[in-house]
Amino acid sequence: MKKIIVALDGHAGCGKSSTAKIVSKELGYVYIDTGAMYRAVTFHFLENKINLENLDDVESELAKITVGFDKNPETGAIEVTLNGERVEAHIRTMEVTNNVSNVSAIKSVRTFLVAEQQKMGIEKGIVMDGRDIGTVVFPTAELKVFMTADVEERARRRQIEMESKGLTASFEEIVENLKERDHIDSTREESPLRKADDALVLDTTNLKFDDQVKQIVDWANALIKNN
Ligand code: DC
Repeated sequence: MKKIIVALDGHAGCGKSSTAKIVSKELGYVYIDTGAMYRAVTFHFLENKINLENLDDVESELAKITVGFDKNPETGAIEVTLNGERVEAHIRTMEVTNNVSNVSAIKSVRTFLVAEQQKMGIEKGIVMDGRDIGTVVFPTAELKVFMTADVEERARRRQIEMESKGLTASFEEIVENLKERDHIDSTREESPLRKADDALVLDTTNLKFDDQVKQIVDWANALIKNN
């Protein structure tokens, strides 16, 4: 059966990653969380105190790193790697979250990661989630979905997810962070977050998780059959 590319874009915290993960399992596809790649680069820049205003420093730092994915042998989960080390445990903190939109607005960072992402999709059979997958990374993806949800509902879900990982943040802080990230992501000069003209919109505010997964799997299967 012919394989397709499923490109999943949308606002911060609307469940793209958890949805994409299950969709990829149901389709037997590889899941690629591009937000985790931007977070890994952000973590590296914070750890090494890189001045984001100095674009030469940013570029020479990018030349020193590789970002990929590897299986966590304990959980079986596919996790992002930085120079070969799994860094999942470090990339979901509020510090990384508060800085990642600024890092991902830098042109050289995007050029570096988009090239890696395009290599990962050469053989198709992937579900990739992010902000620019349907517009920049794979503009010819067979299925493009643009996910969104009400910001307070997104914050409520994000708080539950963070608590389950032992991370704390107030509801108000999460709402502010989501709004701020949506604003930076949508207004930046370099590949801003926008719905591709041919993307299907999925508003998950009132959808159950299983229903949003099923909707995307149904869309994908209809295309796979016709491909
Ligand atoms: O999906 P996420 O919240 O983990 O993404 C973290 C940040 O990375 C998000 O605020 C914007 C950025 N990002 C991006 O600019 N392009 C992508 N393809 C994926 C994420």
